[in-house]
Amino acid sequence: MSQRTAKISFSDSDQVIELPVLEGSMGNPVIDIRALGGQGYFTFDPGFVATASCASSITFIDGERGLLYYRGYPIEQLAQHSDFMEVAYLLLRGELPTAQQKAEFVNTVRYHTMLHDQMAVFYRGFRRDAHPMAVMVSMVGAMSAFYADSANPFDPKQRDIAAYRLLAKVPTIAAWSYKYNQGMPFMYPQNRYDYAENFLYMMFATPCEEYVPNPILAKALDRILILHADHEQNASTSTVRVAGSSGANPFACIAAGIASLWGPLHGGANEAVLKMLEEIGDVSRIGQAIERAKDKSSGFRLMGFGHRVYKNMDPRAAIMRKTCHEVLDELGLHDDPLFRIALKLEEIALQDDYFIQRKLYPNVDFYSGIVLRALGIPTTMFTAIFALARTAGWVAQWHEMVSAAEHKIARPRQLYTGPQRRDYVPIDRR
Ligand code: ACO
Repeated sequence: MSQRTAKISFSDSDQVIELPVLEGSMGNPVIDIRALGGQGYFTFDPGFVATASCASSITFIDGERGLLYYRGYPIEQLAQHSDFMEVAYLLLRGELPTAQQKAEFVNTVRYHTMLHDQMAVFYRGFRRDAHPMAVMVSMVGAMSAFYADSANPFDPKQRDIAAYRLLAKVPTIAAWSYKYNQGMPFMYPQNRYDYAENFLYMMFATPCEEYVPNPILAKALDRILILHADHEQNASTSTVRVAGSSGANPFACIAAGIASLWGPLHGGANEAVLKMLEEIGDVSRIGQAIERAKDKSSGFRLMGFGHRVYKNMDPRAAIMRKTCHEVLDELGLHDDPLFRIALKLEEIALQDDYFIQRKLYPNVDFYSGIVLRALGIPTTMFTAIFALARTAGWVAQWHEMVSAAEHKIARPRQLYTGPQRRDYVPIDRR
C-alpha cells in the first residue's frame, strides 16, 4: 500500500520536500516533519496548536464532535458504569481489569496510601497559609527523597511501584495540605474506605468524632476523578512527558505536572470560577460581567468557559452538569446565592452571540468547581483535587513514554528574533 505524502514547495526556489503522512487509528492525520531539520527548516507552532508531540494509545479526543475516549471507551460509559480505580487501571494497563485484577490493584493502591512518617515533619516547614498546590508540588517532588528505591524510570519493576505509590499517596498529600492549613491533626488513611471515601475522610474527619462519608457525595467526587483522569497531551501532561524525557525520576516528573496544572488557564480554572462567582456577587451583576468578558481591553475572561480543543461541547461538562444538579438536590443547595449566580450565568452566556460565535461553552471546570464547593471542599483545594485525579493520566502517559522504543529527549527548536552577533562593550563605554 502506498503511503500518503505531503509536499512542501517554496515560492523562491524549485525545492520541494516530500514528507510522509501518518495515520493513527482515529483522528487527524499527522505530517511527519522529522526530516525537515536535515533540510535546514524548523516548523513554527507556539502553543502547539497543530503539533502532535508524540504517538499515544491512551486517550482520544475529537474536539469538533465532543468525543473523549480512554483506551477506546467513551467517557460517558466510564462515568456511568466504572469507578476511578478501574479507570486508573485502564489508563495504566490498557484494558479493563477482570474482577481479580481489579481487586489486586485496589488492594495494592490501598496499602500504599500511608506516607513515610518523616514526610509529616516536612509539612511543618511550610507557612500555615501556603496554597495547597505549593505544598503539593513540594511534597510530591520530595517523594523522590523518600522513595528512592522506586525512582529509576528504566526499571519496569520500579516504574510499577512508583505508579502505585503516586496513585496512593497523592490523595494523602493533598488532604494533609488542607489539614495543615487548618491547623488540624493529620488523619491517617483508612483502609475500610474506597478511594474517594478515604479522601473525604482524610479531609473532613477529626480524631474526636466518628466520620461517615456520604455515599452520594463520595460518588460525585469519584466521578470528578474519572472525568479529570486524563486528557491526552494537555499542558501538564506534556510537562510530565518533557520532564520525563530526560530520564528524570517519576516523582519529580509528576511534581512538574502539578506545577503546570496550577495555572489559571489550566487546572486553576475551577478555583478561578468560584473566585469569579464570588466577585460577581449577585445575579443582577451578571450582565456587567458578560460585557467585561467581551471587552478585550478589560483582560477579564469568563472562567470556566471555552476550551482549546472542544469547540462545540466539552463531553465532560455535560456529565458534570448532571452530577452538579444531583449534588445540589441531595444537599438542598439550589437556592444558595453563589449557585444561583452560576446557573444564571450559564443560561445567559449560552444565549449570547459573542459566546455562540466563538464556540465558548461552559467547560468541565465550570461545573466541577460548583460540585466541589457543594461537597464542602475549600476553593484553594480544587486544583489539588484535579491534580490527584490527573495523577492517573500523568503516570500512564509517563509510563507509555519511558517504555516506548522511540524514546527521545524533548528538545524543541525556536525562531530566533534577538540581536545578531555583536561585540561586547566594556561597562565604562555603555
Ligand atoms: N471569556 C471571554 N472570551 C473568551 C474566553 C472566555 N473564557 N475564552 C476565549 N475567549 C475569546 C478570546 O478572547 C478570543 O476572541 P477573539 O477571537 O475575538 O480574539 C476567542 O475567544 C478565542 O480565544 P483563544 O484564547 O484564542 O482560545 P484558546 O483556545 O487559545 O483558549 C482557553 C482556550 C485558554 C481555555 C480560553 O477559552 C480561556 O482562557 N478560558 C477561561 C479559562 C478556563 O476556563 N480554562 C479551563 C480550560 S479547561 C481545563 O483546563 C480542564
